[in-house]
Amino acid sequence: MPNFLEISSVDPENLRHILEQAVKMKKKCKGLTKGATHHDLPLHGHIAALIFEKPSLRTRVSFDIGVRQLGGQPILLSSNEIHLGKGETIADTARVLSRFVDIAMIRTFAQTSLNEFAASADIPLINGLTNASHPCQVMADIMTFEEHRGDIKGKHVVWVGVGSNVCSSFIEAAAQLEFKFTFCGPPSLQPDTKPIQFAKSKGVDIQIESNPELAVAKADLIVTDVWKSMHDQINQEKEQNSDLFHYQVNDQLMKNASSDTLFMHCLPAHREEEVTSSVLDGKNSVVFDESENRLHVQKGILRWCLNL
Ligand code: CP
Ligand code: NVA
Repeated sequence: MPNFLEISSVDPENLRHILEQAVKMKKKCKGLTKGATHHDLPLHGHIAALIFEKPSLRTRVSFDIGVRQLGGQPILLSSNEIHLGKGETIADTARVLSRFVDIAMIRTFAQTSLNEFAASADIPLINGLTNASHPCQVMADIMTFEEHRGDIKGKHVVWVGVGSNVCSSFIEAAAQLEFKFTFCGPPSLQPDTKPIQFAKSKGVDIQIESNPELAVAKADLIVTDVWKSMHDQINQEKEQNSDLFHYQVNDQLMKNASSDTLFMHCLPAHREEEVTSSVLDGKNSVVFDESENRLHVQKGILRWCLNL
Protein backbone atom coordinates (compact mmCIF):
# COMPACT_ATOMS: atom_id res chain seq x y z
CA MET A 1 0.00 0.00 0.00
CA PRO A 2 1.44 3.38 -0.92
CA ASN A 3 2.36 5.91 1.75
CA PHE A 4 2.34 9.66 1.21
CA LEU A 5 5.40 10.61 3.23
CA GLU A 6 7.36 13.02 1.05
CA ILE A 7 7.00 14.77 -2.30
CA SER A 8 10.33 13.11 -3.20
CA SER A 9 9.04 9.60 -2.47
CA VAL A 10 6.06 9.76 -4.86
CA ASP A 11 6.64 9.54 -8.64
CA PRO A 12 5.83 12.69 -10.63
CA GLU A 13 3.12 10.71 -12.51
CA ASN A 14 1.42 9.87 -9.22
CA LEU A 15 1.72 13.46 -7.96
CA ARG A 16 0.04 14.55 -11.21
CA HIS A 17 -2.65 11.88 -10.81
CA ILE A 18 -3.46 13.13 -7.28
CA LEU A 19 -3.63 16.75 -8.47
CA GLU A 20 -5.94 15.80 -11.37
CA GLN A 21 -8.22 13.84 -9.02
CA ALA A 22 -8.34 16.82 -6.66
CA VAL A 23 -9.35 19.21 -9.44
CA LYS A 24 -12.05 16.77 -10.62
CA MET A 25 -13.45 16.33 -7.11
CA LYS A 26 -13.46 20.08 -6.49
CA LYS A 27 -15.40 20.56 -9.76
CA LYS A 28 -17.85 17.78 -8.89
CA CYS A 29 -18.54 19.45 -5.55
CA LYS A 30 -18.94 22.75 -7.44
CA GLY A 31 -16.04 24.13 -5.40
CA LEU A 32 -17.98 23.64 -2.20
CA THR A 33 -16.21 22.81 1.01
CA LYS A 34 -19.30 23.01 3.18
CA GLY A 35 -22.14 20.72 2.17
CA ALA A 36 -20.07 19.08 -0.58
CA THR A 37 -21.60 15.80 -1.72
CA HIS A 38 -20.05 12.96 -3.68
CA HIS A 39 -22.34 10.60 -5.56
CA ASP A 40 -19.86 7.83 -5.00
CA LEU A 41 -18.51 7.44 -1.48
CA PRO A 42 -15.18 5.67 -2.07
CA LEU A 43 -14.16 5.64 1.60
CA HIS A 44 -17.45 4.12 2.77
CA GLY A 45 -16.67 1.66 5.59
CA HIS A 46 -13.14 3.02 6.03
CA ILE A 47 -11.79 4.57 9.23
CA ALA A 48 -8.92 7.09 9.27
CA ALA A 49 -6.83 7.80 12.38
CA LEU A 50 -5.67 11.44 12.44
CA ILE A 51 -2.83 11.81 14.96
CA PHE A 52 -1.59 15.21 16.13
CA GLU A 53 1.52 15.84 18.25
CA LYS A 54 1.41 19.56 17.38
CA PRO A 55 -1.43 22.09 17.11
CA SER A 56 -3.34 22.42 13.85
CA LEU A 57 -6.37 24.16 12.38
CA ARG A 58 -6.17 23.55 8.61
CA THR A 59 -4.73 20.03 8.60
CA ARG A 60 -7.04 18.86 11.34
CA VAL A 61 -10.26 20.26 9.88
CA SER A 62 -9.50 19.51 6.23
CA PHE A 63 -8.59 15.86 6.87
CA ASP A 64 -11.56 15.37 9.19
CA ILE A 65 -14.15 16.70 6.75
CA GLY A 66 -12.34 15.25 3.73
CA VAL A 67 -12.65 11.72 5.14
CA ARG A 68 -16.33 12.32 5.96
CA GLN A 69 -17.12 13.76 2.52
CA LEU A 70 -15.67 10.63 0.92
CA GLY A 71 -17.92 8.45 3.09
CA GLY A 72 -15.33 7.39 5.67
CA GLN A 73 -15.06 8.13 9.36
CA PRO A 74 -12.19 9.96 11.09
CA ILE A 75 -10.83 9.36 14.59
CA LEU A 76 -8.87 12.33 15.92
CA LEU A 77 -6.09 11.47 18.34
CA SER A 78 -3.95 14.09 20.01
CA SER A 79 -0.67 13.03 21.58
CA ASN A 80 -1.83 13.78 25.14
CA GLU A 81 -4.66 11.26 24.68
CA ILE A 82 -2.50 8.31 23.58
CA HIS A 83 0.87 6.90 24.71
CA LEU A 84 2.72 7.65 21.46
CA GLY A 85 6.48 7.73 21.98
CA LYS A 86 6.16 8.09 25.78
CA GLY A 87 4.36 5.15 27.42
CA GLU A 88 4.43 3.11 24.19
CA THR A 89 6.82 3.00 21.26
CA ILE A 90 5.81 4.57 17.97
CA ALA A 91 6.24 1.16 16.33
CA ASP A 92 3.80 -0.52 18.74
CA THR A 93 1.31 2.32 18.28
CA ALA A 94 1.50 1.76 14.52
CA ARG A 95 1.01 -2.01 14.91
CA VAL A 96 -2.04 -1.57 17.15
CA LEU A 97 -3.67 1.06 14.95
CA SER A 98 -3.10 -1.19 11.91
CA ARG A 99 -5.48 -3.71 13.51
CA PHE A 100 -8.26 -1.13 13.86
CA VAL A 101 -8.13 1.50 11.13
CA ASP A 102 -7.61 1.56 7.37
CA ILE A 103 -5.31 4.56 7.03
CA ALA A 104 -3.43 6.99 9.30
CA MET A 105 -2.26 10.58 9.07
CA ILE A 106 0.32 11.86 11.52
CA ARG A 107 1.62 15.32 12.43
CA THR A 108 4.77 14.81 14.45
CA PHE A 109 8.18 16.25 15.32
CA ALA A 110 11.13 14.19 14.08
CA GLN A 111 11.20 12.71 10.60
CA THR A 112 12.43 9.49 12.25
CA SER A 113 9.09 9.19 14.11
CA LEU A 114 7.22 9.34 10.81
CA ASN A 115 9.52 6.73 9.28
CA GLU A 116 9.31 4.48 12.35
CA PHE A 117 5.51 4.58 12.20
CA ALA A 118 5.49 3.82 8.47
CA ALA A 119 7.93 0.93 8.86
CA SER A 120 5.77 -0.82 11.47
CA ALA A 121 2.31 -0.10 10.07
CA ASP A 122 0.36 -2.36 7.72
CA ILE A 123 -1.77 0.56 6.60
CA PRO A 124 -0.94 3.60 4.44
CA LEU A 125 0.47 6.59 6.27
CA ILE A 126 0.20 10.28 5.30
CA ASN A 127 2.65 12.93 6.52
CA GLY A 128 0.63 15.80 8.03
CA LEU A 129 3.84 17.80 8.81
CA THR A 130 7.13 17.04 10.51
CA ASN A 131 9.97 19.34 11.52
CA ALA A 132 11.48 18.61 8.11
CA SER A 133 8.60 18.56 5.63
CA HIS A 134 4.97 19.38 4.85
CA PRO A 135 4.10 17.63 1.58
CA CYS A 136 0.27 17.98 1.82
CA GLN A 137 0.65 21.76 2.06
CA VAL A 138 2.82 21.93 -1.03
CA MET A 139 0.41 19.75 -3.03
CA ALA A 140 -2.36 22.25 -2.16
CA ASP A 141 -0.05 25.10 -3.14
CA ILE A 142 0.71 23.56 -6.55
CA MET A 143 -3.03 23.01 -7.11
CA THR A 144 -3.68 26.64 -6.18
CA PHE A 145 -0.95 27.98 -8.44
CA GLU A 146 -2.25 25.97 -11.40
CA GLU A 147 -5.84 27.14 -10.81
CA HIS A 148 -4.66 30.74 -11.15
CA ARG A 149 -1.78 30.51 -13.62
CA GLY A 150 -1.84 27.09 -15.38
CA ASP A 151 0.90 24.43 -15.46
CA ILE A 152 3.66 25.19 -12.94
CA LYS A 153 6.28 23.47 -15.13
CA GLY A 154 8.96 26.00 -16.11
CA LYS A 155 7.56 28.71 -13.81
CA HIS A 156 9.68 30.42 -11.14
CA VAL A 157 8.93 30.10 -7.42
CA VAL A 158 10.86 32.41 -5.09
CA TRP A 159 10.99 31.62 -1.39
CA VAL A 160 11.69 34.66 0.80
CA GLY A 161 12.48 34.21 4.51
CA VAL A 162 13.42 31.16 6.56
CA GLY A 163 14.10 27.76 4.97
CA SER A 164 11.33 25.89 6.80
CA ASN A 165 9.75 22.44 6.47
CA VAL A 166 7.33 23.84 3.86
CA CYS A 167 10.31 25.26 1.94
CA SER A 168 11.96 21.82 1.88
CA SER A 169 8.84 20.18 0.42
CA PHE A 170 8.62 22.98 -2.16
CA ILE A 171 12.20 22.25 -3.24
CA GLU A 172 11.32 18.56 -3.71
CA ALA A 173 8.27 19.60 -5.74
CA ALA A 174 10.45 21.81 -7.97
CA ALA A 175 12.55 18.77 -8.79
CA GLN A 176 9.55 16.47 -9.37
CA LEU A 177 7.33 18.89 -11.32
CA GLU A 178 10.11 20.78 -13.08
CA PHE A 179 9.79 24.38 -11.96
CA LYS A 180 12.53 26.85 -11.04
CA PHE A 181 13.13 27.59 -7.36
CA THR A 182 15.10 30.38 -5.72
CA PHE A 183 15.72 30.65 -1.99
CA CYS A 184 16.31 34.12 -0.54
CA GLY A 185 16.92 34.31 3.21
CA PRO A 186 19.64 34.60 5.85
CA PRO A 187 22.58 32.26 5.14
CA SER A 188 22.26 30.75 8.64
CA LEU A 189 18.60 29.83 8.04
CA GLN A 190 18.83 28.19 4.63
CA PRO A 191 16.76 25.08 3.89
CA ASP A 192 18.04 21.58 4.76
CA THR A 193 20.61 20.19 2.39
CA LYS A 194 18.68 16.91 1.82
CA PRO A 195 15.96 18.36 -0.45
CA ILE A 196 18.59 20.44 -2.26
CA GLN A 197 20.62 17.27 -2.87
CA PHE A 198 17.47 15.49 -4.06
CA ALA A 199 16.83 18.30 -6.55
CA LYS A 200 20.46 18.09 -7.72
CA SER A 201 20.13 14.34 -8.26
CA LYS A 202 17.21 15.11 -10.60
CA GLY A 203 19.29 17.69 -12.49
CA VAL A 204 17.56 20.70 -10.90
CA ASP A 205 19.71 23.44 -9.39
CA ILE A 206 18.16 25.40 -6.53
CA GLN A 207 19.25 29.01 -6.79
CA ILE A 208 20.32 31.02 -3.75
CA GLU A 209 19.96 34.82 -4.00
CA SER A 210 20.80 37.10 -1.10
CA ASN A 211 19.08 40.24 -2.43
CA PRO A 212 15.26 40.05 -2.00
CA GLU A 213 14.60 42.81 -4.58
CA LEU A 214 16.56 40.90 -7.23
CA ALA A 215 15.11 37.55 -6.16
CA VAL A 216 11.46 38.50 -6.62
CA ALA A 217 11.99 40.34 -9.93
CA LYS A 218 11.50 37.15 -11.99
CA ALA A 219 9.02 35.40 -9.69
CA ASP A 220 5.73 33.91 -10.85
CA LEU A 221 5.08 33.06 -7.22
CA ILE A 222 6.50 34.42 -3.95
CA VAL A 223 6.18 32.20 -0.87
CA THR A 224 7.09 32.69 2.75
CA ASP A 225 6.48 31.00 6.11
CA VAL A 226 6.76 31.91 9.79
CA TRP A 227 10.25 32.73 11.05
CA LYS A 228 9.79 30.40 14.00
CA SER A 229 8.13 27.04 13.33
CA MET A 230 6.25 25.03 15.96
CA HIS A 231 9.33 22.92 16.74
CA ASP A 232 11.49 26.06 17.00
CA GLN A 233 10.16 27.23 20.37
CA ILE A 234 13.64 27.60 21.79
CA ASN A 235 15.54 28.60 18.69
CA GLN A 236 17.39 31.64 20.04
CA GLU A 237 19.11 32.25 16.75
CA LYS A 238 15.84 32.93 14.98
CA GLU A 239 14.52 34.90 17.95
CA GLN A 240 17.48 37.24 17.87
CA ASN A 241 17.87 37.49 14.13
CA SER A 242 16.76 41.08 13.51
CA ASP A 243 18.23 40.69 10.03
CA LEU A 244 15.05 38.74 9.21
CA PHE A 245 13.13 41.99 8.62
CA HIS A 246 15.36 42.43 5.58
CA TYR A 247 13.37 39.47 4.15
CA GLN A 248 9.89 40.63 5.15
CA VAL A 249 7.38 40.38 2.29
CA ASN A 250 5.89 43.88 2.22
CA ASP A 251 4.51 46.34 -0.33
CA GLN A 252 7.95 47.75 -1.00
CA LEU A 253 9.31 44.30 -1.92
CA MET A 254 6.24 43.43 -4.00
CA LYS A 255 6.92 46.54 -6.15
CA ASN A 256 9.97 44.69 -7.50
CA ALA A 257 7.85 41.78 -8.70
CA SER A 258 5.51 41.67 -11.66
CA SER A 259 1.97 42.94 -10.99
CA ASP A 260 0.57 39.42 -11.51
CA THR A 261 3.06 37.58 -9.29
CA LEU A 262 1.11 35.46 -6.80
CA PHE A 263 1.78 35.43 -3.07
CA MET A 264 1.41 32.33 -0.87
CA HIS A 265 1.78 31.49 2.82
CA CYS A 266 0.74 28.15 4.33
CA LEU A 267 -0.74 29.96 7.39
CA PRO A 268 -0.89 30.53 10.29
CA ALA A 269 0.91 33.81 9.55
CA HIS A 270 2.59 36.13 12.03
CA ARG A 271 1.33 39.37 10.56
CA GLU A 272 3.88 42.20 10.38
CA GLU A 273 6.77 39.74 10.86
CA GLU A 274 7.43 37.58 7.77
CA VAL A 275 4.63 39.32 5.83
CA THR A 276 2.63 42.50 6.23
CA SER A 277 -1.17 42.47 6.32
CA SER A 278 -1.15 44.67 3.24
CA VAL A 279 0.40 41.79 1.22
CA LEU A 280 -1.39 38.95 3.00
CA ASP A 281 -4.77 40.59 2.36
CA GLY A 282 -3.70 42.18 -0.92
CA LYS A 283 -4.72 41.45 -4.52
CA ASN A 284 -1.81 39.06 -5.27
CA SER A 285 -2.46 36.88 -2.24
CA VAL A 286 -4.10 33.47 -2.66
CA VAL A 287 -3.56 32.26 0.92
CA PHE A 288 -7.18 31.28 1.60
CA ASP A 289 -7.38 29.36 -1.69
CA GLU A 290 -4.35 27.42 -0.46
CA SER A 291 -6.18 26.61 2.78
CA GLU A 292 -9.30 25.46 0.96
CA ASN A 293 -7.34 23.33 -1.48
CA ARG A 294 -5.88 21.35 1.42
CA LEU A 295 -9.29 19.69 1.55
CA HIS A 296 -9.52 18.85 -2.15
CA VAL A 297 -5.94 17.68 -2.61
CA GLN A 298 -5.94 15.55 0.55
CA LYS A 299 -9.07 13.78 -0.68
CA GLY A 300 -6.96 12.93 -3.74
CA ILE A 301 -4.14 11.71 -1.48
CA LEU A 302 -6.49 9.56 0.65
CA ARG A 303 -7.95 7.92 -2.47
CA TRP A 304 -4.53 7.35 -4.00
CA CYS A 305 -3.19 5.75 -0.81
CA LEU A 306 -6.19 3.43 -0.58
CA ASN A 307 -6.39 2.85 -4.33
CA LEU A 308 -10.05 3.94 -4.30
N1 CP B 1 -0.87 25.13 7.04
C1 CP B 1 -1.13 24.26 8.04
O1 CP B 1 -0.72 23.09 8.00
O2 CP B 1 -1.90 24.76 9.03
P1 CP B 1 -2.26 24.06 10.41
O3 CP B 1 -1.01 24.07 11.25
O4 CP B 1 -3.35 24.92 10.99
O5 CP B 1 -2.73 22.66 10.15
N1 NVA C 1 6.72 26.01 9.31
C1 NVA C 1 5.47 25.99 10.04
C2 NVA C 1 4.36 25.49 9.19
C3 NVA C 1 3.02 25.46 9.87
C4 NVA C 1 1.94 24.92 9.02
C5 NVA C 1 5.65 25.12 11.29
O1 NVA C 1 6.18 24.02 11.18
O2 NVA C 1 5.24 25.57 12.36
